[in-house]
Amino acid sequence: LHTKETTLAIVGYGYWGPNLLRNFMEVPECRVKYVCDSSAVQLRKVALKYPHISLTQSFDEVIDDDEVDTIVISTPISTHHHLAKKALLRGKHVFVEKPLTADSASAEELVRLAEMQQRVLMVGHTFKFSPPVVKIKELIDSGELGDIYYISSSRVNLGLHQADVSVIWDLAPHDFSIIFYWLGEEPSQVYAFGRGCVKPDMPDVAFINLAFESGTVAEVQLSWLSPVKLRRTVIVGSKKMLIYDDTESVEKVKLFDHGVNFVEPSSFEEFQLSYRSGDIVSPHLDNYEPLYAEAKHFLECIREGKRPRTDGVDGLHVVRALEKAEDSLKKNGNFVEDKRCRLRVVR
Ligand SMILES: NC(=O)c1ccc[n+]([C@@H]2O[C@H](COP(=O)([O-])OP(=O)(O)OC[C@H]3O[C@@H](n4cnc5c(N)ncnc54)[C@H](O)[C@@H]3O)[C@@H](O)[C@H]2O)c1
Repeated sequence: LHTKETTLAIVGYGYWGPNLLRNFMEVPECRVKYVCDSSAVQLRKVALKYPHISLTQSFDEVIDDDEVDTIVISTPISTHHHLAKKALLRGKHVFVEKPLTADSASAEELVRLAEMQQRVLMVGHTFKFSPPVVKIKELIDSGELGDIYYISSSRVNLGLHQADVSVIWDLAPHDFSIIFYWLGEEPSQVYAFGRGCVKPDMPDVAFINLAFESGTVAEVQLSWLSPVKLRRTVIVGSKKMLIYDDTESVEKVKLFDHGVNFVEPSSFEEFQLSYRSGDIVSPHLDNYEPLYAEAKHFLECIREGKRPRTDGVDGLHVVRALEKAEDSLKKNGNFVEDKRCRLRVVR
């Protein structure tokens, strides 16, 4: 059976683009014809490593080439909508790095356009292809953890301050896409609080609270200013609890048979809780690079006409929540001030 080769172009070869290029080059039936970057300095780095790839600073040159059927966009967030729209209008399949766009109206437009053009639109929510995240989804769906009471996630380190977006748009796409995937729902309420420590007009620390219709509540702590790197998520369910630590090299997921049960009182005065502290198990995880799985999935969806796990609608859900978080942060988390704190103590 002959399967048609996908011919693609990587647009944006900064920090993340080289990872995309390396992985797409490894996927069978895929030919990377171009790398496009507005910076000649970045293109020179490609020439040294991959002399057979065509290099260009012109996005138009890439989308005008009929041989190229697929565009992979890894440029700054503010450029995603414009580039993806142009590529879809020229009938290309499009992969856009997270977050899909810088606002939800633009994301909706791309979703509609992809439908109209009957082209695959996929977003780089890489964690939805990562073995621990997929394993946790299986555990939640199988009912192993019971009802999910709450999720608490920390994504902090001494990170790269982005020039054009706050820490929310840079880091929250990861936690939002992971949590919405696990729970299978979007949040009904989003509150955020934070501040710009290094540059007052650019928040570099944010604490986000989410509430879901199912009753689950979640908090996400984000920061580019932390002495250590934490990638740690705690999930507490009615049956079991779980810790996912992505900085661990082995045993990234630990499942705790711990819990507290309410014991039906036999008399009116009696109030009893029973505490359970059982086994701690680290489930077996598959071993593959999430970005490779993501690239392979994208090309499969193109070939087989399938809807990607991280399609445009998935990207839109994340952008909507990011917008709400940024809005709430600007309003100080709809912070309710307790005026009593302002009272001076008069001696
Ligand atoms: N999935 C992940 O885990 C992950 C990790 C890091 C970054 N990202 C995402 O990847 C994207 C790029 O991030 P980055 O950190 O590599 O940014 P970056 O600033 O390091 O690189 C962006 C590159 O795009 C080029 N560029 C800018 N405008 C262009 C245009 N109009 N046409 C062609 N090239 C253009 C720049 O010259 C630069 O080389 C962002 O959306 C970011 O959120 C995803």
